[in-house]
Amino acid sequence: MKIKSKGMAFIAVLASSFLFVACANQQATDKKTEAKVGKTVTASAGTTTKSAAPAAAAEKKAVPEPAGVALYEKTPPPLKPVDCGRCHVSQFTALKKSKSKHRFDCKNCHTQFHVYNPLKKNYEKIMPKCQRCHGLKHGAAFPHCLQCHQNPHSPLNIPFAQVEKKIKGKNGKPVVSCAVCHLKEGTEFAKYPTKHNVEVNCQGCHADKHGYIPSCLDCHEPHVEGMVFKDCLVCHSPHSAKRIKKYPEDTANKICGSCHTTEYKHLQTNHTKHSELHCATCHVKHGQIPKCQQCHGLPHSKALHKRFPNCLTCHKDPHNLPVNRKK
Ligand code: HEC
Ligand code: HEC
Ligand code: HEC
Ligand code: HEC
Ligand code: HEC
Ligand code: HEC
Ligand code: HEC
Ligand code: HEC
Ligand code: HEC
Ligand code: HEC
Ligand code: HEC
Ligand code: HEC
Repeated sequence: MKIKSKGMAFIAVLASSFLFVACANQQATDKKTEAKVGKTVTASAGTTTKSAAPAAAAEKKAVPEPAGVALYEKTPPPLKPVDCGRCHVSQFTALKKSKSKHRFDCKNCHTQFHVYNPLKKNYEKIMPKCQRCHGLKHGAAFPHCLQCHQNPHSPLNIPFAQVEKKIKGKNGKPVVSCAVCHLKEGTEFAKYPTKHNVEVNCQGCHADKHGYIPSCLDCHEPHVEGMVFKDCLVCHSPHSAKRIKKYPEDTANKICGSCHTTEYKHLQTNHTKHSELHCATCHVKHGQIPKCQQCHGLPHSKALHKRFPNCLTCHKDPHNLPVNRKK
């Protein structure tokens, strides 16, 4: 048969599929969608005919073959997560949406399933145990995994209220649970207390979603305009905010000047060679005072230095040097 056009081809396909459906007694309904091309139809129709007429069938003529026997020919393939998901829609969807590393075969966790028997009260027993794979992930203080990881099919979905809750520490005293896991931050926080400990605490800064990182600027004005959050961390550790870290030498003078207005102003108005230096060149750490000799040694005569051991007797103020300007 020669097919002239697409329309004709379609009719041909339609006709042969009707024929096929009739012959195969609707056994191949699944394949109907594949029957887009004449070739496929012929091929699958051929196979069906072959398998529907085995030699043994002829012998048992008296007893007609029960309809549907072919349904039992294959060994059922093991269920894949997507098959489980047909019935367990919520668990499947939760896993899918979670983006969790738990998106492996359900049966890795559910080594047994469909064995719950209310008479045996065996529900607890048959359910997967987190510890089998993870052990006591956060130590002995947290044995009840599902208290926080409320949904094993979306384990990172942890309500903040759960981690915020006070739990019993080793000595029976309640402790804020954050520090039990975040030992480093907790220890630093306790060792260098500031007003943050009393007025804010972990929860106050880390707000109401676990893992949220605040910006200092949520609550504070910067020292000078234009500073951004990451600038703050150059000098301040968030968990010991009053302990000023060693800042880089090129730290802008106007930052220091926002508090030390006099020194800043003097260096600006009385322009000397010291004005060209960064505050941080002389004050390498906050609060540290350098000696003039560190940079200048003893520039005058021995006699002079012996008589006036303090340079500032004559030079007054490093930020406001009395320089004899002839021009
Ligand atoms: C990481 C291990 C893990 C994986 C993977 C997992 N489950 Fe579960 N599932 C559990 C645990 C643990 C429970 C018990 C929860 C409880 O006791 O509240 C459970 C409970 C269930 C339940 C009982 C009802 C319920 O939601 O509490 C069903 C149904 C279920 N899982 C189906 C599935 C299906 C279907 C898959 C795969 C698509 C799957 N699970 C993948 C660990 C897992
Ligand atoms: C044809 C529907 C269907 C399929 C497919 C199916 N289940 Fe279930 N499953 C049920 C029903 C119904 C229950 C009992 C009611 C309930 O707990 O939702 C159940 C209960 C469960 C339970 C809790 C009680 C128990 O006895 O274990 C788990 C776990 C479970 N199924 C896991 C799975 C896993 C894993 C797969 C895939 C490997 C799967 N199911 C495939 C219908 C199905
Ligand atoms: C069959 C083994 C198995 C069981 C049982 C199991 N997990 Fe996992 N889990 C894994 C593997 C594998 C990973 C990915 C590798 C890793 O991070 O260690 C993982 C990752 C995780 C993660 C990391 C975040 C993520 O989703 O990717 C959390 C949280 C977690 N599991 C919690 C749990 C909890 C809670 C339970 C009990 C309800 C549990 N797991 C049961 C194997 C398991
Ligand atoms: C007090 C609450 C709490 C309890 C109880 C708890 N967890 Fe967690 N778990 C957490 C938090 C919070 C995280 C961090 C989640 C995140 O990364 O956002 C976490 C993370 C994890 C991770 C991922 C770790 C990683 O480094 O990626 C695993 C695995 C895990 N928990 C397993 C367990 C197991 C197993 C148990 C029980 C033995 C358990 N958890 C008990 C709160 C808890
Ligand atoms: C049961 C253990 C556990 C508890 C309790 C817990 N956390 Fe976490 N937290 C984790 C784990 C695990 C991670 C993710 C892994 C990591 O980066 O350290 C995490 C991540 C974080 C992060 C983000 C870290 C980053 O690098 O982005 C912050 C912030 C945080 N937690 C704050 C808190 C605060 C505040 C609390 C108390 C309200 C708390 N956590 C309670 C285990 C815990
Ligand atoms: C004043 C606000 C503030 C308080 C109070 C605070 N934090 Fe933080 N925390 C921050 C900021 C800001 C960062 C981000 C630091 C960074 O990016 O280097 C941070 C980072 C973290 C991290 C991630 C650490 C890392 O290196 O990525 C953890 C975990 C954490 N904090 C836990 C805690 C715990 C536990 C407490 C209470 C003991 C606490 N924080 C108190 C502001 C705070
Ligand atoms: C959730 C609001 C909040 C955030 C975020 C926050 N602080 Fe504070 N901070 C406070 C409060 C409240 C005080 C106490 C009242 C005051 O001095 O303004 C304080 C006080 C301070 C103090 C003086 C502490 C003392 O004991 O005198 C310093 C320094 C400080 N904050 C630095 C920072 C830095 C740096 C960041 C970012 C890492 C930050 N803060 C983030 C609320 C916050
Ligand atoms: C060059 C270092 C440096 C940088 C960068 C810096 N700070 Fe400071 N900050 C200090 C010093 C020094 C103090 C005074 C400490 C003391 O009182 O002993 C201070 C004090 C504070 C205080 C206490 C209240 C006050 O004004 O005396 C707050 C709040 C504060 N800084 C917030 C911030 C914020 C927000 C940022 C980022 C925009 C920031 N700091 C960046 C050095 C710095
Ligand atoms: C937020 C305000 C603030 C900022 C910004 C600040 N300081 Fe200070 N500084 C102070 C306070 C308050 C003191 C006195 C308390 C103390 O000794 O910690 C001080 C003390 C000093 C001292 C010691 C004074 C003495 O009498 O011993 C020096 C030096 C100093 N700061 C230099 C600097 C330099 C350099 C910078 C910039 C890198 C800077 N400061 C930034 C507030 C600030
Ligand atoms: C050339 C080095 C040098 C430079 C640059 C410098 N300082 Fe100083 N600063 C000193 C010395 C030396 C002292 C000690 C003076 C004394 O003993 O009276 C001092 C003292 C201070 C003090 C303590 C109070 C005082 O006046 O005695 C503060 C605050 C201070 N400097 C802030 C600043 C600031 C802010 C800047 C930048 C705007 C700055 N300094 C630049 C050398 C310097
Ligand atoms: C961190 C090093 C450093 C420290 C500390 C320091 N100076 Fe200087 N000073 C300099 C430099 C660099 C110059 C410029 C030298 C040049 O150009 O030859 C200078 C210049 C001077 C000048 C000449 C100023 C001019 O404009 O002609 C005087 C005077 C002086 N310093 C005095 C002092 C005295 C007094 C002290 C202690 C209170 C001191 N210096 C501390 C680095 C320092
Ligand atoms: C008795 C007063 C006196 C004392 C004490 C003194 N100086 Fe001077 N110094 C001077 C005079 C005057 C000048 C020249 C001033 C000028 O050129 O404006 C000078 C100049 C300097 C200069 C600039 C030299 C140049 O080549 O431009 C430096 C640097 C200096 N002194 C450092 C020091 C140091 C460091 C000490 C302490 C160890 C010190 N002086 C102690 C009076 C003194």
